[in-house]
Amino acid sequence: MSRITVSTLQQMKDAGEKISTITAYDASFARQFDNAGIHAILIGDSLGMVLQGESDTLPVSVDDICYHTRCVRNGVNNTLVLSDLPFMSYATPEQTYANAAKLMQAGANMVKLEGGAWLYETVRGLVDRSVPVCGHLGLTPQSVNVFGGFKVQGRNSKKAEEMIDHAKGLEAAGIQLLVLECIPTELAKAITDAVSIPVIGIGAGNVTDGQILVMHDALGISYGKVPKFSRNFLAETGNIEDAIKLYIKDVNSGTFPAPEHGFS
Ligand code: KIV
Repeated sequence: MSRITVSTLQQMKDAGEKISTITAYDASFARQFDNAGIHAILIGDSLGMVLQGESDTLPVSVDDICYHTRCVRNGVNNTLVLSDLPFMSYATPEQTYANAAKLMQAGANMVKLEGGAWLYETVRGLVDRSVPVCGHLGLTPQSVNVFGGFKVQGRNSKKAEEMIDHAKGLEAAGIQLLVLECIPTELAKAITDAVSIPVIGIGAGNVTDGQILVMHDALGISYGKVPKFSRNFLAETGNIEDAIKLYIKDVNSGTFPAPEHGFS
């Protein structure tokens, strides 16, 4: 496999090939995921929950993400490395540019931020400064206090229309990848059809251009409640590399996620 870039992901969407991505936070797991052929690794602020044991992602700092980005970068050869800008690290343009620079210098190929219309200018500024950007809509965990919990988003038609508009607006601003989290499958399909960039889903059905899972969920090593949209691939295979190969295979064939993993 050759090195995956943002252009590779776009070519995959254009060719109708599914994109498989996962989170990782250290070199050892990242190496196994890279060997298995994963297309992108996200150093997600989910690390606040799965590594640090926090109840949400808000305590995660830019330094935390930089540290884990460097660890992952040291483990991979081909996979695209995507890093989260954590809560309140992109509230102003100057802060956004400084923090995105730290993530890129730690080894990221792209940064991800959560939100809709309020980010159009921010995305333009980053893209103008040569930072590839991934958007994130739906259940954006940094907004958990606004949502009143980790709840499926976009269930009413006004919110659904608004999300489609935000996806188009973010694309026009320059994002090159979009994550949709915990939204009805029908809405995920409408958004995927409405934009030309690759869309990857988590709890958004098998209708997007690809999938992302938190590694602890995909390997069945999370403590606490296992999300409905996840599947334990390690239980089915017995070793980590084969588990990720199975995940990629089932994303590719459209058998993962199955209807029972989605929302209506
Ligand atoms: O932080 C994270 O791991 C994420 C994924 C759930 C998409 O944002």
